[in-house]
Amino acid sequence: MTREIGRKSVLEVRRSGIVKDKRASGKEQTIMSQGKRALNFNAGPAALPLEVLEQAREEFVDFGGTGMSVMEMSHRSKTYEAIHNETAALVRELLGVPEGYDVLFLQGGASLQFAMVPMNFLPKGKAAGYVLTGSWSEKALKEAQRLGETFVAASTKDGHYRRIPGAEEISFGKDSAYLHVTSNNTIYGTEWASFPDTDPVPLVADMSSDILSRKIDVRQFALIYAGAQKNLGPSGVTLVIVRKDMVERAPEDLPTMLQYRTHAKNNSLYNTPPTFGIYMMGLVLKWVKGQGGVEAVERRNREKAGLIYKVIDDNPDFYLGHAEPTSRSLMNVTFRLPTPELEKEFLDGAKAEGFVGLNGHRSVGGCRASLYNAVPVEHCAALRDYMVEFRKKHA
Ligand SMILES: Cc1ncc(COP(=O)(O)O)c(C=O)c1O
Repeated sequence: MTREIGRKSVLEVRRSGIVKDKRASGKEQTIMSQGKRALNFNAGPAALPLEVLEQAREEFVDFGGTGMSVMEMSHRSKTYEAIHNETAALVRELLGVPEGYDVLFLQGGASLQFAMVPMNFLPKGKAAGYVLTGSWSEKALKEAQRLGETFVAASTKDGHYRRIPGAEEISFGKDSAYLHVTSNNTIYGTEWASFPDTDPVPLVADMSSDILSRKIDVRQFALIYAGAQKNLGPSGVTLVIVRKDMVERAPEDLPTMLQYRTHAKNNSLYNTPPTFGIYMMGLVLKWVKGQGGVEAVERRNREKAGLIYKVIDDNPDFYLGHAEPTSRSLMNVTFRLPTPELEKEFLDGAKAEGFVGLNGHRSVGGCRASLYNAVPVEHCAALRDYMVEFRKKHA
């Protein structure tokens, strides 16, 4: 854990939230910086970039000389409209959203999309396929079952959701209403490395926990949805990217707020949108752009996840990774220790060192480190160091 840090790098590290304190015991310890940034590995809501929070603080009371917070502005004002449209334009730019798709800002979280997708796209006489790769895809299926005919196109539940199924394991008819996948499984720590070609069946993806973390080809999807609270901003906004022809095909007798058409026709301003959340998403997107865009962020995410997976691979009898290596998530690293007692000691020790959010999801236990875009490399290196030290202590 001991690592000399020159003056320059201390300043850099400080900005990202870590200071190594050598005074306490002669042994270096990771402590929070003067800015009190936690070593935040929460699964969502999750860490946001410090620069974004600082900018939001600067503009909090008086946005751009208006004498108002963004929260106090009319959603019909020119100032807010500019924020709203810039955020949508940044989504298009960073994710490469082509013409022919709508970008929508909705509410109700990804969980409401579990229902809106079948309401809009699952007509009587057709069936929708769901690929089960974890708890969230199970929830999506359950909601669709209330609304129409469904089938399980593939499932890795028997193997405790340790892997993503191969394209050859997924079965669906060419006349299926759509095929639904969960691109990253937040709880089990698995992620689709590539997506199946489902043409002509529309592919729908819940990308709540890996949107904007890596390059995707939006053209592969008829609809993408994501709650904002991992990689995009605060909770309260749900991003939907949907092909216009799908929107137009949906039934018109649904409740107004539950039709994509309503939001597409009104530029997500049919009713009052979550204005502050959309503003924050805009700041996060500008930050991603400033980092070099999605490719640069993906490179860093691979580096970050690589640090933690290396410890797991170097100590396969001590850190028991849940995901099969080819299905590993870049966003959520899940692992267990050999005994519940060691797990408790590991988590208690981590907490004492200033790490936050390393407990596994309450439904599966164990440990989980969520390494979303805003989690700095240095925080991942600190976790790696802690894991290596802990292993040595129990050799
Ligand atoms: C993959 C995935 N889908 C859906 C959800 C539910 O999202 P929300 O709380 O926005 O409804 C989550 C939440 O963690 C998730 O990780």
